Amino acid sequence: MRIGILTSGGDCPGINATIRGVCKTAVNHYGMEVVGIHSGFQGLLTKDVEVFTDKSLSGLLNLGGTMLGTSREKPFKRGGIMSDVDKPSLIMQNVKDLGLDCIVCIGGNGTQKTAARFAEMGMNIVSVPKTIDNDIWGTDFSFGFDSAVSIATDAIDRLHSTASSHKRVMVIEVMGHKAGWIALYSGMAGGGDVILIPELPYDMKNIGETILRRLKQGKPYSIVVVAEGIQTGSSKRAGEFIAQEIEYETGFETRETVLGYIQRGGSPTPFDRNLSTRMGGHATELVATGQFGRMVTLRGDEISSAPLDEIAGKLKLVPADHDLIVQGRRMGICFG
Ligand code: F6P
Repeated sequence: MRIGILTSGGDCPGINATIRGVCKTAVNHYGMEVVGIHSGFQGLLTKDVEVFTDKSLSGLLNLGGTMLGTSREKPFKRGGIMSDVDKPSLIMQNVKDLGLDCIVCIGGNGTQKTAARFAEMGMNIVSVPKTIDNDIWGTDFSFGFDSAVSIATDAIDRLHSTASSHKRVMVIEVMGHKAGWIALYSGMAGGGDVILIPELPYDMKNIGETILRRLKQGKPYSIVVVAEGIQTGSSKRAGEFIAQEIEYETGFETRETVLGYIQRGGSPTPFDRNLSTRMGGHATELVATGQFGRMVTLRGDEISSAPLDEIAGKLKLVPADHDLIVQGRRMGICFG
């Protein structure tokens, strides 16, 4: 078999480890040929590909970013490059021309939707869930999330010293437009006093009271972790808005930090490397056994898969009764 592999959407730690997992399993175990497709679905429009050799698959396990390059090209949506052609049909034809028996795509929610559409059109396709946001339906965790949480937790740890030395409130804004997984996990692991996520409403009065209660308890400093996607009703960034409101409510000197793309950069954690290896290898097993139209999943500690049409278009949000929220509330942490 000759398989094509592409990475689509934002980069994240563990993509290269997943490429390695897919391709080494394909070449060493199944004797397949692997073709790397550059820049996501854009590379399938322009036939921008390279045939992998064993050497091209070395040094990938701990490498950040994606060695294939990525793009946010969505062939089923208007716009982008070659906007005047029927992109899905062109891609179907190019896959045939390139002699690819199937496509393995590594991506987030948008990519799962695109993969589901191509599966409907008859393409042999399997996918691997990739996002630091951990918001892909059907899998407990996507690779990249643990690395992002680890980076964000380290950043929160480092804010504690300025918070306590200067008796300030330190607000940190982390990624997560619709889902607050990074804010919840890093906020709890970093000992945040207030954690705000898009899934839960908040009241500035409650937040102010939490900070002032801490003052009465002899703790004239607080750490506030904010997901970038919380509703603010303002054009300001979430972190900046919350910092300004806290200063107004409490009179505390407040500073904000936006962690940004640092969360997506650099080496994957050991957990993500092993998850990538397992998910990548399983994707190749799906290909080898002809189980197309599926996304690899992690449920509990079991790697499995689910049909793409069950996953596409859904978001995995933080449930209000998540154990970390329940436990956090019992300990006095404010979730809004
Ligand atoms: O990968 C998901 C994500 O990290 C979001 O949390 C973030 O807001 C978004 O990507 C931004 O990425 P870009 O600027 O590359 O579109």
